[in-house]
Amino acid sequence: MSKETLTIRDNRTGQEMVLPIQQGTSGPPVVDITKLYKNFGLFTFDPGFRATASCESKITFIDGDQGILLYRGYPIDQLAEKSTFLEVCYLLMHGELPNQNQFDDYVKLVTEHTMLHEQILNFYRGYRRDAHPMAIMVGVVGALSAFYHDSLDVHDPRHREISAFRLIAKIPTIAAASYKYSIGQPFVYPRNDLSYSENFLHMLFSGPCQEYTVSPAMARAMDIIMILHADHEQNASTSTVRLAGSSLANPFAAISAGIGALWGPAHGGANEAVLNMLHQIGDEDNIGAFVKRAKDPNDPFRLMGFGHRVYKNYDPRAKVLQKAAYDVLEEVGRHDDPLLKIAQKLEKIALEDDYFVKRKLYPNVDFYSGIILSAMGLPTSMFTVIFAVSRTIGWISQWMEMISQEGQAIGRPRQLYTGTAQRDYIPLDKRA
Ligand code: SDX
Repeated sequence: MSKETLTIRDNRTGQEMVLPIQQGTSGPPVVDITKLYKNFGLFTFDPGFRATASCESKITFIDGDQGILLYRGYPIDQLAEKSTFLEVCYLLMHGELPNQNQFDDYVKLVTEHTMLHEQILNFYRGYRRDAHPMAIMVGVVGALSAFYHDSLDVHDPRHREISAFRLIAKIPTIAAASYKYSIGQPFVYPRNDLSYSENFLHMLFSGPCQEYTVSPAMARAMDIIMILHADHEQNASTSTVRLAGSSLANPFAAISAGIGALWGPAHGGANEAVLNMLHQIGDEDNIGAFVKRAKDPNDPFRLMGFGHRVYKNYDPRAKVLQKAAYDVLEEVGRHDDPLLKIAQKLEKIALEDDYFVKRKLYPNVDFYSGIILSAMGLPTSMFTVIFAVSRTIGWISQWMEMISQEGQAIGRPRQLYTGTAQRDYIPLDKRA
């Protein structure tokens, strides 16, 4: 434990409080307030957790000012260029890059568990055809606990590992089925002879009437998208998974809660909102009016895909995605895609506008991802589903870390109560 401390003085009582400071491997040190309430009768107050470290973790590190993102110490741009999504899954889960035997075993285990119990497909038929695929994802993933009674003891490391593999393996199948159901096409079964990303595209786009050959360029683009979205420290959906899991709820219920949190347009739902915004702008000539609205404090409109709670510099993932967008649009012969041109012009204008510069608002991971997914042929309603497929490895890795941590306890924040003081009940006939 570090000997560094923070001394604060309560000027109501003159009491001094000495709080320990802890320094991690990188990033800001933390003030340990675990004894603040017990010893000094005080809570801390930090709505939105802008200055709160909710846990200790060894998985992902972000430096928002430098625009750095590391998975187990490896820079995201190196992983996007040199790794594969399943290798990144192994890295996030186990903390080290696998050797060949470890990787082969891991790929085999995931590949052989991609099928869904046939009865799970019945859940889909309970939804309206026009249900948002994220609504289906929340429901079906949560329902997995109704099928896998053999791996729900969260205190058993073997059960935790079985559940993790089931989720990693089956989440693309569940996602693809939600898409097929929404367009009225038959479900497509997974194929064990394809890679994870090839198989995902196969289940999304194959059909009974004609052969579908997965494009290697598209499979690589999907792999890169999933590497970039795999984990991101204690974002809203990961914090939701940790909090839900801290009650010892089963991992399927905890991941389902994370999917619900990711759905919001302020979080993972932003990629869908970016495409809707670009369509709404419609023409480069209209960009100025939308930027003006985004800057108007009385207008709730925000530039979707811009800004970030942590990154006060360019999101390193957005840089990789911008290049991937070119490659995919080139592959599909849409290098002059009007939406990409609007996005690039919007980015240029915003990055030169004092409002955005002063607030350090840069494109984030969601700004370009939708353009790529749209070029792949996916509807906007599937964009956050793809995000959820990728982030499942991050959620389950963070859940495994939380549940196995020494002294793990249920998360239970307190509050600043500003409601009415205690008062007695007034019978109805005595009320005004
Ligand atoms: C993701 O946390 C993660 O790690 C998330 C994520 C992950 O991988 O898990 O990175 C994925 O969720 C990326 C973010 C996707 N969301 C969007 O693109 C939605 C648009 N962005 C914003 O809604 C906003 O930037 C947030 C929600 C992302 C961050 O909000 P904060 O940190 O609470 O910032 P804020 O609302 O306090 O904004 C500070 C100022 C405000 O202006 P002032 O009050 O100072 O005048 O910046 C303004 C805001 O109005 N602002 C924007 C803006 N984002 C912030 N103004 C216009 N357009 C925007 N997009």
